[in-house]
Amino acid sequence: MTRHFLRDDDLTPAEQAEVLALAASLKATRHTAEAPTPLRAANGVPRGVAVLFDKPSTRTRVSFSVGVAELGGYPLVIDAATSQLGRGEPIADTARVLDRQVAAIVWRTFGQERIEAMAAASRVPVVNALTDGFHPCQILADLQTVAERKGSLAGRSMSYLGDGANNMAHSYLLGGATAGMHVRVGSPEEFQPDPEVLKRAGEIAAETGGSVAWTADAAAAADGADVLVTDTWVSMGQEDEYDARIAPFLPYAVDEAALARAADDTVVLHCLPAYRGKEIAAEVIDGPQSAVWDEAENRLHAQKAVLIWLLEHS
Ligand code: CP
Ligand code: NVA
Repeated sequence: MTRHFLRDDDLTPAEQAEVLALAASLKATRHTAEAPTPLRAANGVPRGVAVLFDKPSTRTRVSFSVGVAELGGYPLVIDAATSQLGRGEPIADTARVLDRQVAAIVWRTFGQERIEAMAAASRVPVVNALTDGFHPCQILADLQTVAERKGSLAGRSMSYLGDGANNMAHSYLLGGATAGMHVRVGSPEEFQPDPEVLKRAGEIAAETGGSVAWTADAAAAADGADVLVTDTWVSMGQEDEYDARIAPFLPYAVDEAALARAADDTVVLHCLPAYRGKEIAAEVIDGPQSAVWDEAENRLHAQKAVLIWLLEHS
């Protein structure tokens, strides 16, 4: 059976732990003779990985391109606007063309149903490089960063302040619960997480010893947090709503006051790009508790790990 990574709960707790351990080992052995090259075929020729973008990207584009090359493969980075997919060719037809030529398909797109359609028609692993619903590769990198800073994940509290209805909030809920963390989302009432995601995250947390909670009380959400995270208030595709979306989120900014409520040794994360003076204060993201540059680097290691894992299990 072909394994895909479309949402954070596509990996069981044990599988997520395997991927994170592999990510740490890939980081430690990068550029050494021990670094694995599973995308190099037996005849020495690199295998292709299609990396498709329907939305802009800096980190995801670079980390998948470099990561696939470091695994011995060849990244084909394709912008939707220059592909037939962008002109309306059916997703399933695209999958049937790609899967005969590449080892895996990585896609950043809009609706979650689009990447599900790609996976349903593909015989090679499909990886979600961000949809409106989830950003699971980012959460693996974030968990790797927390594990590096804190030594472990299970039992730690992770508080997300901001847009509770976006891809990052949903992925923190599912991915954090899978890791056995206590995930709290603080957001305005009108930007709450999808109830289906909150319910599923609660079921996972019940298995792993973690917990999930939503609150409109920003101060309560940040209280004592081991990890304090936020994300843009205006996600890709929501640019037309910019003016209306700022005011409701102002009380949820990760500023000095929020930082003071978190644990003294809290780690601050942000998937980037960041908007200083909006969702996060410059003093916080550029301050001593911020781990955002390690977090951005860990995209490379975590995604190499998930690609290796999916190829081995498909
Ligand atoms: N965090 C993240 O996915 O960044 P990009 O949009 O630059 O890829
Ligand atoms: N929520 C943001 C994440 C960017 C990496 C967006 O979807 O634009």
